[in-house]
Amino acid sequence: MAETAYQKCINPDCGAEYGCDESFFKCPKCGDLLDALYDWDKKKVPTRLSDFGKRWASRNERLDFSGVWRFRELLNFCDDKFKVSIGEGQTLLQQNDNLAEFIGIKKGNLHLQYEGLNPSGSFKDNGMTAAFSHAKRVGAKSCACASTGNTSAAVALYAHHCGMKCTVFIGSGRIAFGKLSQAMDYGAKTIQILGDFDDCMKQVQAVCTELKLYLLNSLNPFRLEGQKTIMYRILEGLGWEVPDWIIVPGGNLGNSSAFGKAFYELKELGLIKRVPRLAIINATGADTLSELVNNRNLKWNGGKVDNKIISDFYAELTARNFSPHTCASAIEISRPVNLKKCLRAIDVCNGVVRAVSDEAITDAKALIGKYGLGCEPASAATIAGLEVLLAEKTIKPDEKVACVLTGHCLKDPNVTVNYHKEKMGKYSNPPIECANDLGQIIKLMST
Ligand code: F0G
Repeated sequence: MAETAYQKCINPDCGAEYGCDESFFKCPKCGDLLDALYDWDKKKVPTRLSDFGKRWASRNERLDFSGVWRFRELLNFCDDKFKVSIGEGQTLLQQNDNLAEFIGIKKGNLHLQYEGLNPSGSFKDNGMTAAFSHAKRVGAKSCACASTGNTSAAVALYAHHCGMKCTVFIGSGRIAFGKLSQAMDYGAKTIQILGDFDDCMKQVQAVCTELKLYLLNSLNPFRLEGQKTIMYRILEGLGWEVPDWIIVPGGNLGNSSAFGKAFYELKELGLIKRVPRLAIINATGADTLSELVNNRNLKWNGGKVDNKIISDFYAELTARNFSPHTCASAIEISRPVNLKKCLRAIDVCNGVVRAVSDEAITDAKALIGKYGLGCEPASAATIAGLEVLLAEKTIKPDEKVACVLTGHCLKDPNVTVNYHKEKMGKYSNPPIECANDLGQIIKLMST
């Protein structure tokens, strides 16, 4: 394959470039984030998005079956022989009219992109298939990640598939049970650090540098290339029409960064005429992005991000001994590593950021459960955010909205069971105790 892909530092004052045979998780020159970029060979990229849809007809081919590699010309950084796939990306865009009607959006205008259908039960598999393909390209033998749970599950699954050793770092007591069970079951060495995700993220970078391990967090630019395909599949599900809004939960801000890049590139290639707007939803207990963007006026500013705003805020967090807390443990993050790329996505997509309470998240989760698709708490931040944006009229009922439900409902059964059993919210639906007696059972059923 003639090499058309390269890595480039996002900092315009640096702009250093590297080949794809190397593996970094930050620019060796200035320490900023790296992008995977392409010298697009327009002859090789389909001229219409609908051409990708034709690959359904050859889905017995492993790469055409993958919901990521079906779009391989748009993430063309390695030869086919390195491409790893375990059948990721067979996900569903569901038009949900019942939920739409309930929250006051026009019939036909609310779509739920259910990434819980991936092999490890979350959107992470989209990124891992790409990052592990790059890991194979560079001949990595051992890998690691920090995680609030889903990354560790996906890494463990793909590492096993590739025959790589893997170690996952999780914050002790900070991970949902379903996810912890996956990491152990899929054979990862699981290290619980007495700290939160941000502590784990710091340690794993030091460990990977020290021991020369391949890092699989979203600092890895190739991971984000795989996550772009979630947007391609939304477009595909809408008959290649661009929605008005994409709504996504914000944690480490890999998804939002990848989505902005996906749309920027599609526009650059002439494959779409306009980009959708992006709404990124934090939990109020982990609302760094919302605080920095809405209250401290942090902006992409053509890549010249005001680092002082970020460092001042982080110094405040440290001084307060702050550790984030939310029932949406997947997004319990206060120092998101992709912050700058996310600012760029907000710039490209005229994005907005909101923060929603745990109460709003669990209520929204129950609604999503009741109206057709379950999801884990972090994913429900999308619908809670949509309710806020509708109430403030930022989103109008006649606009087309796609919410990314990032993880499966069985990832975190504790939050669901507690919400219902302990009658914690307005949609709680607790089980009813009954004597082992037919008369009493029938009596109960008639009420
Ligand atoms: N939703 C779910 C279900 C997640 O697991 C995550 C992140 C997010 C949303 C946030 O996505 O980081 O791209 O903004 N989980 C990571 C993990 C941090 O370790 O599993 P983001």
